[in-house]
Amino acid sequence: MSDKSDSNFSLITSSGRLELHPPRGMSLQPISVDFTNPAFKYRLRRGGGRGQPLARALGLKHGAKPLVLDAAAGLGRDGFIIAALNCRVIMCERSPLIHALLADGLRRALEDEELAPTAGRIRLYRGDSQILIPGLTDNEIPQVVYLDPMFPPRRKSALVKNEMRVLQAVAGEDSDSAGLLNAAVQAGCQRLVCKRPAQAACLGGRRPDFSVKTPKHRFDVYLKQKNSLPICRKASCHRISTTHCFHKLNFPDCVSRKAFSV
Ligand SMILES: C[S@@+](CC[C@H](N)C(=O)[O-])C[C@H]1O[C@@H](n2cnc3c(N)ncnc32)[C@H](O)[C@@H]1O
Repeated sequence: MSDKSDSNFSLITSSGRLELHPPRGMSLQPISVDFTNPAFKYRLRRGGGRGQPLARALGLKHGAKPLVLDAAAGLGRDGFIIAALNCRVIMCERSPLIHALLADGLRRALEDEELAPTAGRIRLYRGDSQILIPGLTDNEIPQVVYLDPMFPPRRKSALVKNEMRVLQAVAGEDSDSAGLLNAAVQAGCQRLVCKRPAQAACLGGRRPDFSVKTPKHRFDVYLKQKNSLPICRKASCHRISTTHCFHKLNFPDCVSRKAFSV
């Protein structure tokens, strides 16, 4: 659940692209998603490839190409960079307005010769990842879940970019992001990466296995324990198997709540 509703913002098509316009009286500029922007294309080409902090956090060395779930997609920048690193990406965004902007940005990226192969590796869902994750089909279960929930607003709000302020005004503060982390843990993925501001506490107070740091951000990385036991992905179940699966463990249709030794 987000803290503020999407109301009073309007979606307007201008020069062939969708723009999100803040209500009159808010000192904010319209925003859109434009992956074809030359600065963003430059970032894709020169961002450091698999040596960049995001790629290291995702575990992309030695040519790994995991299926990545970007469970808090926002304006899709990180997810697009991940797809440009040759990973297939499932993006999920719950704000209908932000989702519409992102869908429009991806549509235009598919029409761009340079970006089309990257955009073609992305599938976008609208909805809450906490609901999406337990319902993923077997071949959609990601190896990596990437989380970048909204950070609490900074006190010096003038320093926050217009884009981020619009995002905060539309999507709220993501105060349920610890629940999203728990849902992601239960997805049964190999690795979970959570982007945090450099000085912020770990999400939900969970200590990561390690962090990859940049001057402004930190990627907290949680690894699936090698000897960990399978966990049922059904949100209401979460049983851990010590022997074999009475609950159709790891399948979204697990409905049995039979007592089970943990
Ligand atoms: C900080 S933004 C993500 C920015 C993104 N990484 C980018 O590069 O543009 C956070 C976004 O996550 C979305 N979000 C938060 N929790 C979510 C959830 N449980 N399911 C789907 N979307 C979620 C919010 O609506 C918001 O748009």
